[in-house]
Formats: sequence, C-alpha cells, structure tokens
Amino acid sequence: MTTTRQIARQMTTFGKGILAADESIGTMSSRLEGAGVNPTAQSRRDYRELLVTAPDLANGVSGIILCDETLNQAFADGTPFPEACRARGILPGIKVDTGAKPCPGLPGETITEGLDGLTDRLAGYAKIGAAFAKWRAVFTITGDTPSRGAIVANASALARYAAACQEAGLVPIVEPEVLMAGTHGIGQCAEVTAAIHQTVREHLALLNVDLAGIVLKPNMVTEGSENPGPPSSPEEVAAATVEVLRGWPGDLAGVAFLSGGQPPQRATANLAAMQSHDTPWPLTFSFGRALVSPALAAWHGDEELVGDGQAALSAHVAASAAAVRLRGQLQSV
Ligand code: 13P
Repeated sequence: MTTTRQIARQMTTFGKGILAADESIGTMSSRLEGAGVNPTAQSRRDYRELLVTAPDLANGVSGIILCDETLNQAFADGTPFPEACRARGILPGIKVDTGAKPCPGLPGETITEGLDGLTDRLAGYAKIGAAFAKWRAVFTITGDTPSRGAIVANASALARYAAACQEAGLVPIVEPEVLMAGTHGIGQCAEVTAAIHQTVREHLALLNVDLAGIVLKPNMVTEGSENPGPPSSPEEVAAATVEVLRGWPGDLAGVAFLSGGQPPQRATANLAAMQSHDTPWPLTFSFGRALVSPALAAWHGDEELVGDGQAALSAHVAASAAAVRLRGQLQSV
C-alpha cells in the first residue's frame, strides 16, 4: 500500500509543482462569466478537461487539485477525472473545506468550515481515486487582525483536517494563507505569517500529524497589495519567506506556494529566487490563478481555441517548473 509519506514525496518530486484548479462552483462560474462563457456544469467540465489534457502537463506538475464537482465528473469520452489524471501520470487531489465563513465572535474574520462529516467524505474521495486533499485557512492583515482567536480556531481546524486525511490515506495540503490585500509592509507579513505557522505546527503536533506526510501551502512573504512603497525584489521576498519557513523541521515533505493573486511573472520570479536558499525541504509551486487565468483568457469558451488555452497553461507551467529546477543549478539538491 502506498503510504502518505510516499504520496507526499511524489507530490513534491524535484522539478514539478501542483496545479490548483479547485475553484468552487461559485468562484469558477464567476470567472467563466468574466471570460464571456455561460457557466454550466458542462462548461466547467470542458474547462477542467482542457487543463488536464494540456499536452505534457505531467512534465511540470505532479498533481492537480480539483473540487468535488469535477472529481465526480467525466471527460466527454466518459473517462472519470480521477482516472484520466492518473493515466497521464498526475495525482488527483480534492479541496475538502467548504469555504471561509464569518467567524462567530470575531467580526471581520473568518473560520474555514467543512469538518462535519469529513471522515466519511474523505473515505469516499479515496475510493474514487483521490490521492491528496486541500484545506485553506484565510487571514487578513489590518490594524487588529488576525486576532489570536482566529489564528487558534483556524489552526485547530487545519490540524483536525490533516489528521483525518492521514487516517484516510490521503496527503493533506495544509494551506494557511495570509492575503495580500492591505497596506502592510513585508516585515508585518513576515511576523504574522510566522505566528500563524507556529500555531499551526503546535496544533498539528497535538494531533500527531506526521509532517513527512503533509505538504505545506503557504503564501509568499510580501508587502500588501496596497502598500504605498516600491515592491520588494524577488531576493527580498525569497529571503523573508525562507526565514519564516525555517520554523518548520526538516522532516516536512515539502512546501508548495500559492500565488495569491500575484501576476504570474512575479510569482515565478519569487519562486526562482527562493531556489538559491539551502533548505531541507523542496520549495515548489501550487499556483492557481498564476497558471490558469492565462489559459481561461486564451480559450474563453471557444472550442476552436482549446489548443490556445492549453498552450497558455503549458507556457506558465513550464516557466514555474523551470524556476523550481534552478535549485539543481544554484545548489546541490
Ligand atoms: P492562487 O495561486 O490563485 O492563490 O490559488 C491557489 C489556491 O489553491 C488557493 O486556495
């Protein structure tokens, strides 16, 4: 039987990342509408089929995160998505949280929900072929947030999710995301991200989660998107991010960054700069928007343009994979 440690190693294979294509039905529908596509179960399916069938996708990604709707859908030729992904050498994963909801008692802050019935849902996802799962906690930096309460509540939920995944034989992607929205500087982002990671580690340890069987999906440490100063350089982002990550022990399977709405070129340049730092865990990508937005724009629902959409995806995956592969050149792996 493949263990969660083995799956986690596969997910963080040198030179590859993880494609995040797990937008909820609501989010996907509004993105399709924005691109001029009528949002239906079929158009959402067609779009995800375009992504999975992009030629040579497996050269740059080890896994793809899907949402419940897609994991249960089939290609136009009847092949179920999980089987189609595996046939291409790509591990299928599933977003299992049910979203960030207003947190009672903490105005303006959110708690990610989805623990009710999670054990049964995980067993069902494993049965239809999922190899890993994802849960995203969200934090906003303002004058008085994130509060200690929001950090503890979300860290506790992340740990309960992670422990349940490992018991079901699925690798949990643990995603504590500090949003870029805000006027904060890079130093404040570093402080807040470090405090969140510390609390997440404590809660994972309390529930005996095996760090060698998880993939951490953090934000890069950057200034806020409304910060008035000049943007930090890739070298500054890389140094600040790696310093925060040093709190994680060497047995962590790997780190796969979210893009957080950064322009694709910036996310990739930051990822490339990370590779000159000597770390005990691989530093790769699990980008969503930075990879799929150009594909959606190029395709925009026109079946004649499927190839263009796929070419856009492949180009961005190749650039991100090339950034990760710099590690082999900048230092010994
Ligand atoms: P972005 O790369 O667009 O931030 O999405 C990654 C993700 O999976 C968010 O949960």
